[in-house]
Amino acid sequence: MTQKTAAAKAPPKPETKAPAKTPAKPADSFTLTDNASGKSWQLPARTSVMGGRLIDIKRLYGDTGVLTYDPGYTSTASCKSDITYIDGEKGVLLHRGYSIDELAEKSDFMEVCYLLLYGELPTPEQKTSFESDIRIHTLLHEQLISFYNGFIRNAHPMSIMVGVVGALSSFYHDSTDITDIGARRLAAHRLIAKMPTIGAYAYKYSLGMSFPTPHNDCSYSENLLQMMFSNPAEKYKIDPVLAQAIDRILILHADHEQNASTSTVRLAGSSGANPYACIAAGIASLWGPAHGGANEAVLKMLDEIGSADRIGAYIKKAQDKNDKFRLMGFGHRVYKNYDPRARVMRDTCHEVLEVLGVEDPKLKLAMELERIALEDDYFIKKKLYPNVDFYSGIIMKAMGFPTSMFTVMFAIGRTAGWISHWKEMLRDEDSKIGRPRQLYLGAKAREYLPLDRRGHTDKKVSWAWLWGG
Ligand code: CMC
Repeated sequence: MTQKTAAAKAPPKPETKAPAKTPAKPADSFTLTDNASGKSWQLPARTSVMGGRLIDIKRLYGDTGVLTYDPGYTSTASCKSDITYIDGEKGVLLHRGYSIDELAEKSDFMEVCYLLLYGELPTPEQKTSFESDIRIHTLLHEQLISFYNGFIRNAHPMSIMVGVVGALSSFYHDSTDITDIGARRLAAHRLIAKMPTIGAYAYKYSLGMSFPTPHNDCSYSENLLQMMFSNPAEKYKIDPVLAQAIDRILILHADHEQNASTSTVRLAGSSGANPYACIAAGIASLWGPAHGGANEAVLKMLDEIGSADRIGAYIKKAQDKNDKFRLMGFGHRVYKNYDPRARVMRDTCHEVLEVLGVEDPKLKLAMELERIALEDDYFIKKKLYPNVDFYSGIIMKAMGFPTSMFTVMFAIGRTAGWISHWKEMLRDEDSKIGRPRQLYLGAKAREYLPLDRRGHTDKKVSWAWLWGG
C-alpha cells in the first residue's frame, strides 16, 4: 500500500485552526471591555499594603479616550499615601500603623503631629527638639493681629480662621519657596504652632477681650486651654484633666486620610500654591455641616430635640425622604461600623463630665438617641453609626467652649494632618495638578442669537427654578 492510499482510507483529521492570538493578560490586571465596539483593554492593578486591590486608571483616557464618572469620589483613590489607614467595615483607624485607641490613650498631640509629619514616633531627643521648634512660632505678627479688628464682632470664628490663616500667606509668601525643603518644614511648624493662637484670638475677639500671650512654658494643649479661658485680671490655674481632654480631642481629629478638607488642601497645593493659603482652603471645606461643622450641628440638633420623648419623631424625620433633616453625628462615607474615634470620645466625655461634676442632660439625651438609633432598622440597614462629632460637642460644651468654637478646635487638630498630606503630596513623583474631568450634559454647540431675535420660551423660569431646578 502506498502512502497515498493509506492516507485516503484514514478517517479525515478534524480541522485544527490555530487559536486567534489574544494578548497575554498580565496576572495583576483588570480587563475593561467596551460592549459597543467589542474592544478590550488591560488596566493594571495596584495593591494597598492593607485594604485590597485598586484599578489603576491613570492612563485610561490617554489609552482609550474613555473617562470614568465618580461624583464624590466614592470609588476613586486620588493619591497614594503612607499616613493613615482606615478599615471602614471593621471600624479601624491607624496613623502610620498605630491604632487611634492606643495613640489616644498613651501618646500626646505633639507626638502624634511628629508621627504624622515624619512617619515614626519621635525619640526623646527628637520630641524635645520638635516641641521647642513649635514653641518658638506661637506668637502672631502684630500686623496679623490687627486683622481681627476688621471682622464684625459676632463673626463666626470659622470665618475668622479662614481669613486670618489665609492672611498668613501675605506675611510669609516671598520667604515660602515650596521647592525648598527648609521652607516647607518652617511653614509646617509655623502652622501647627500658630493655629491655637489664631483660634483662641477668634474666641477672645467675639467676647471683646484682650488677646492673651501664648505661654511657651506650657504644653501645646495647656497653652491652648489657658489662651481660651484665662483673663488678664486673674491667675489661671490649668486643670490637668481638662488639658488632657483637649489633647485627646486634638489627637482624635489629627488626621483622617483623604476627607473633603484634606483633599481640598491637596488640590489647592497641587498647583504649587502658598501653604498657608492651602490650609485656609482646608478650613473653609471643614466648616460645612456634612464635615467638621457637624459637631456644632449635633448640639443644635440636641437642643431642638429637647427631651427623650421627642427622639422617636426625629428618628422618623431622619428617615423621611421628603425631609432634609439628617441625624447629625451619624453616618460616615467610609465607616460602616462604629467610628473608633467616637468610642474614645464617648469615654472621654464621661471622664470630663465626672471631673467637672457636670450632670449634662444633653449627654443623657445623646446616649438615649444613640441607643434608639442603633436599634432602628433604617440605621442598621444603612450601617449608620455615631461618628467622631457625636460626642465631641458635649465635651467641649462642658469645658466652656461656645458651640461656634467646636469646629475651630477640629481645625486646630486637623492642621497636623493637612500639612502632613501637603508635605507628602509635594514629595510624590506621581503627583500632578489636580484636574478632574466631567460628564458634560449641557447644550451642544449653537449659534449666538442677538437679543432682538430671541423669542419667548415655554419654560416656566423662576429664580427658584434657575437655582434649585
Ligand atoms: N441621618 C439619616 N440618614 C442618613 C444619614 C444621617 N445622618 N447619613 C446618611 N444617611 C442615609 C442617606 O439618606 C442615604 O440614604 P439613601 O441611600 O436611601 O439615599 C444613605 O444613608 C447614604 O448616605 P449618603 O449621603 O449617600 O452617604 P455619604 O457617604 O455621601 O455621606 C455623611 C456621609 C457623613 C455626609 C452623611 O452620613 C451625613 O450627612 N451625616 C450627618 C453629618 C455628619 O455627622 N457629618 C460628620 C461626618 S464625620 C466627621 C467629618 O467628616 O468631619
